[in-house]
Amino acid sequence: MKFKKKKIKSRWHQYRLKDVFFNEAKKLGYRSRSAFKLLEINKKFRILKKGQNALDIGASPGGWSQILSQKVFSNEKKNKIISVDLKDFQPIDNVLNIKKNIYDDDFILLLKKYFSEGIDVIVSDAAPSTTGNKFVDHIKNIELCEKSFEIAKNLLNKGGILVIKIFDGKEAERVCNLIKKKFLQFNLYKPKSSKSESKEIYIIAKFLK
Ligand SMILES: C[S@@+](CC[C@H](N)C(=O)[O-])C[C@H]1O[C@@H](n2cnc3c(N)ncnc32)[C@H](O)[C@@H]1O
Repeated sequence: MKFKKKKIKSRWHQYRLKDVFFNEAKKLGYRSRSAFKLLEINKKFRILKKGQNALDIGASPGGWSQILSQKVFSNEKKNKIISVDLKDFQPIDNVLNIKKNIYDDDFILLLKKYFSEGIDVIVSDAAPSTTGNKFVDHIKNIELCEKSFEIAKNLLNKGGILVIKIFDGKEAERVCNLIKKKFLQFNLYKPKSSKSESKEIYIIAKFLK
C-alpha cells in the first residue's frame, strides 16, 4: 500500500517519545498511551462531536473510550457510547462496556438493539494477539478490519464516520479500496504517538454514502 512512512527516528528519540506519551498518559489519568492517538486523529480530522452515538471496538483497557466519554457524551442528549472487547476492563463514566467477541454471530443484532437510532461514529483500535508468524498476523488483522467494516455497513448512520487501525501489508490496499468506495472522504494517518517502527496506520473514513 502506498503510505509515505516518515524516516525512522533514532532509538534514543523513540524511547524519549515513548516516555513522553507514557508519562503524559499517567499524568492525565488515561489508561493507555493510545488515548493520544485518538486525540491526534480528532485534532486533524474533527471526527468527534457532542451528542454522537459511538462504538469503540477493541476498547480495553479503555483509553479511547475515555476520550469518547470526554468528547462525545452530552448530558442533554444522553447519547450512547458502547465499548466492546474480549477482555473486561474498569468502567468509564457514561460508557457501557460489553465483553464480547465481535465475530460472535449475534453481535450485530445485539448492537442493533442497543443503538436503535444507529451509530454516528465507530472507532476500532482492535488488534489480534500475535502468533509470531508475520503473514498469519497480517491476515488476522485484515480480518478484524473487514469485520469492523461489516459492522459499520450494518450500523453506521448515513454521513457516519469510521476509524480503523490497519497494519500495512499485502492485503491492506484491497481493504482500503473497499472502504474508500463507501465513504465520501478517505484518509490514512499515522499519529506521532504511534511508534514509527510499528506498521500500524489508521483509516479515517468520513461520511458514509
Ligand atoms: C491495542 S488494544 C486497544 C487499546 C485501546 N484502544 C485503548 O485505548 O486502551 C486492542 C484490543 O483489541 C481487542 N480485540 C482483539 N480482537 C477482538 C475481537 N475479536 N473482539 C473484541 N475485541 C478484540 C483486544 O482484546 C485488545 O484489548
